Amino acid sequence: MITVSNLKKSFDAVDALKGISFNIAQGECYGLLGPNGAGKTTTISILSTIINPNEGEVKIAGYDLKKNPLDCKKNIGVVTQEIALYNELSAYDNLLFWGGLYKVPRQELSEHIDETLGLLGLTERKNDKVKTYSGGMKRRINIASALLHKPKILFMDEPTVGIDPQSRNLIFEVVEKLHEEGMTIIYTTHYMEEAERLCDRVGIIDNGEIIAQGTLNELKNSGSMKESVVISYTNLTDECYQTIEKEWKDLRRFEDTIHFYSMNIQGDLSKLILMCNEFGLDMRHIDIQKINLETIFLNLTGKQLRDK
Ligand SMILES: Nc1ncnc2c1ncn2[C@@H]1O[C@H](COP(=O)(O)OP(=O)(O)OP(=O)(O)O)[C@@H](O)[C@H]1O
Ligand SMILES: [Mg+2]
Repeated sequence: MITVSNLKKSFDAVDALKGISFNIAQGECYGLLGPNGAGKTTTISILSTIINPNEGEVKIAGYDLKKNPLDCKKNIGVVTQEIALYNELSAYDNLLFWGGLYKVPRQELSEHIDETLGLLGLTERKNDKVKTYSGGMKRRINIASALLHKPKILFMDEPTVGIDPQSRNLIFEVVEKLHEEGMTIIYTTHYMEEAERLCDRVGIIDNGEIIAQGTLNELKNSGSMKESVVISYTNLTDECYQTIEKEWKDLRRFEDTIHFYSMNIQGDLSKLILMCNEFGLDMRHIDIQKINLETIFLNLTGKQLRDK
């Protein structure tokens, strides 16, 4: 449904995109996960024909973005990172305006507006001016405005930043519903738990490059990362550690704490507890470190996703 090859974009001295490529199948929800300044919005802006790339090819719904930008545009809805609404107008009138821009016929438009207002839980407030809305409600109207022309593809650029938990949950449910109904979605975020929950596949983007992509399971298995059981002891001696080292080859010690790396946490946990008893060790704390997108990102880049 979407093919992006070797996309490059520079702003003066900044290489915002250094040649990114990815393919998205019809009906897939693809997450672009990366920290501030990674190039997420630049990618979305190019794909939505807002800015031109310096190099690269993009195909959307079978159309070449350079040759047939209008055909591409008809197929996509865009939820921009910056909310664009008229504060003095009601939600309904804002949607009339946006629908008009997409040239949705009037009768169809009022049906679609009612439908999207319902989907986003805003029917009761539809006649109130947008200036009376909370940030989360504005965000929901922003999403509604992207759906009025019934696009096959939806781009959502960090749709949950800075909003209340209730709106955030509602947005998750809307994304899940649209996904179930077969919409192809690109969802950018720097919240790994959102990508984990919503996306079939994830591209991890950093400094204008996609540094890894795949399903969560593929990403977990692609690196050399292993889950670990982390145990802190009250009475760990050097002598005792040397004995443990003989029993358990893959481990690291940090003072009173040992990281036991494991390919099978469930099975190994009981062995570790038995070993503790056997050696007369007293546990102060036990923790299981799972592999998730956050740890994968940390492993690939040496930095936290949410570093500003
Ligand atoms: N119009 C512009 N002029 C100059 N530099 C820009 C412009 N737009 C983006 N950049 C730069 O390009 C890089 C990528 O920016 P982009 O907005 O795509 O990042 P992002 O991943 O969306 O970040 P965020 O999570 O903060 O939204 C950054 O270094 C940014 O400063
Ligand atoms: Mg952005």
